[in-house]
Amino acid sequence: MDSLRDKPIKFIYSVFCSVILLFACKYSTAELPRLVQPPKSDGTLSFLVVGDWGRRGSYNQSQVAIQMGRTGKDLNIDFVISTGDNFYDDGIISPYDSQFQDSFTRIYTASSLQKPWYNVLGNHDYRGNVDAQLSPMLRDLDCRWICLRSYVVNADIVDIFFVDTTPFVDKYFVEPKDHVYDWSGVLPRNKYLNNLLTDVDVALQESVAKWKIVVGHHTIKSAGHHGITKELEKQVLPILEANEVDLYINGHDHCLEHISSVDSGIQFLTSGGGSKAWKGDVAEWDPKEMRFYYDGQGFMSVNLSEAELRVVFYDGYGRVLHRWSTYEKGPYSDV
Ligand SMILES: *[C@@H]1O[C@H](CO)[C@@H](O)[C@H](O)[C@H]1NC(C)=O
Ligand SMILES: *[C@@H]1O[C@H](CO)[C@@H](O)[C@H](O)[C@H]1NC(C)=O
Repeated sequence: MDSLRDKPIKFIYSVFCSVILLFACKYSTAELPRLVQPPKSDGTLSFLVVGDWGRRGSYNQSQVAIQMGRTGKDLNIDFVISTGDNFYDDGIISPYDSQFQDSFTRIYTASSLQKPWYNVLGNHDYRGNVDAQLSPMLRDLDCRWICLRSYVVNADIVDIFFVDTTPFVDKYFVEPKDHVYDWSGVLPRNKYLNNLLTDVDVALQESVAKWKIVVGHHTIKSAGHHGITKELEKQVLPILEANEVDLYINGHDHCLEHISSVDSGIQFLTSGGGSKAWKGDVAEWDPKEMRFYYDGQGFMSVNLSEAELRVVFYDGYGRVLHRWSTYEKGPYSDV
């Protein structure tokens, strides 16, 4: 009698233990670091996005920076996102590299841009000293600078997931040409990538924010010079689709671009116009998906509330090139 009565309790206990174990396994990979960004007191949030910029002011970098300052003031921005390729041609060699001052601190001087800058690394950054760009010493030199490999910014109505995309791209490993990449911290590569994919998936699944935005340097969908990044299309895109991400924002192609996927609700936004542009080689793309392409310099803004998300692209003179917005999730419209 006693043992029979015990059975259900034992069963419940063993289920309980397996659940605990499952959770323990699930979270055995390191979680992505999380940073908290408070929204405005009215619950809204706005920010600018610029990519592919650090050229000591040349190729219109300074012009774009001046305009970002003006637009940043109009929108009362909360922060700036950089989509990577922060310093050309080969990243920085140490935290004291003059590039940091000459391409960042002395360029983005407007008062509206004295906000946190959330950065990711691009392939050009990997050609320098990666630890230098990740070093907290840069924050002593310029307190705006925030750069980790992969991380999440929790801003209440939106969670923004920053993903280190350079290690996914085969050609940097297989045919690096005369470039030397700093893979310290990335090898063994398969382990690094598998952990990263799991961490991003888990972080997206756990997100309870109204909006989900993923930021990486490399393209997933693009008609620009570099085009589609096959490795990300294969390995990262399914995770974004499964987790109903709203926006994927990248740089790498030196242009401004908006592609709406016909297969998912994800908007693919390229903001890589921070300096050198005008590549002149745009591939054909399904007109049902291609909503906007500008082969020149500029940047993007995002303004969101719980109910609405608005994206605007600007050229280096502040001319609005393209607007797009969505209410809730699903139907969208050009404004
Ligand atoms: C700077 O911007 C102007 C206006 O968009 C453009 O005509 C010019 O070619 C740009 N210069 C460079 C070096 O990209
Ligand atoms: C941002 O969006 C909110 C809500 O949609 C709106 O109230 C606010 O005016 C917008 N801000 C700007 C600067 O457009």
